[in-house]
Amino acid sequence: MATASKPTERRAGFRAMTEGTAEDWAIIGADYLHSLQTTVPRIMGHLRLLADGHGGFAVDRLEHSLQTATRAHRAGRSDDYVACALLHDIGDTLCPADHPSIAAAIVAPYVGEELTWMVAHHAVFQGYYYFHHLGLDRNARDKYAGHPYYDLTEEFCAEFDQAAFDPSYPSMALEDFVPLLEHVFAAPSASRVQAEATPSAS
Ligand SMILES: [Fe+2]
Ligand SMILES: [Fe+2]
Repeated sequence: MATASKPTERRAGFRAMTEGTAEDWAIIGADYLHSLQTTVPRIMGHLRLLADGHGGFAVDRLEHSLQTATRAHRAGRSDDYVACALLHDIGDTLCPADHPSIAAAIVAPYVGEELTWMVAHHAVFQGYYYFHHLGLDRNARDKYAGHPYYDLTEEFCAEFDQAAFDPSYPSMALEDFVPLLEHVFAAPSASRVQAEATPSAS
């Protein structure tokens, strides 16, 4: 990873964007670069928030995430895959109504579209293992039958996500994943950075 820039102590002078200058935007752009280069510590911080809730499961949400990622890592999956496994439920605290979309948005600029799709759709595939206990259709995932990433997502839930609720499983520590996260989140793919989000000023 490139040497991280420092956060700027300078501030733009404008009070409305109509007053903005190139110098203002050089200041803001430099800070945006720093923000891009320090994504991993913020991701770690948000993952730690998952330890505050167990949702009634035998393990808390951080342990579930660590266990999902550890199982994927020990099964020889790629760094990108393991990072997705670690982050797949990171939205549980901020958006319980649609937690997969939060994780998918975070990984999308850094991993392939197949892994982003897997993260974005894992909830309905995970439902195969419990929807019927709630009076729902466990085969709801079948609406995606024939999709090129169906098998990938089905396997993620079968092999890793649905199996990661064991309090006795020897999961890796969150800190053990830092080198892998630094590698995956080293730089976003330029083609996947949304222009309207660069830099954030709204
Ligand atoms: Fe989930
Ligand atoms: Fe999960």
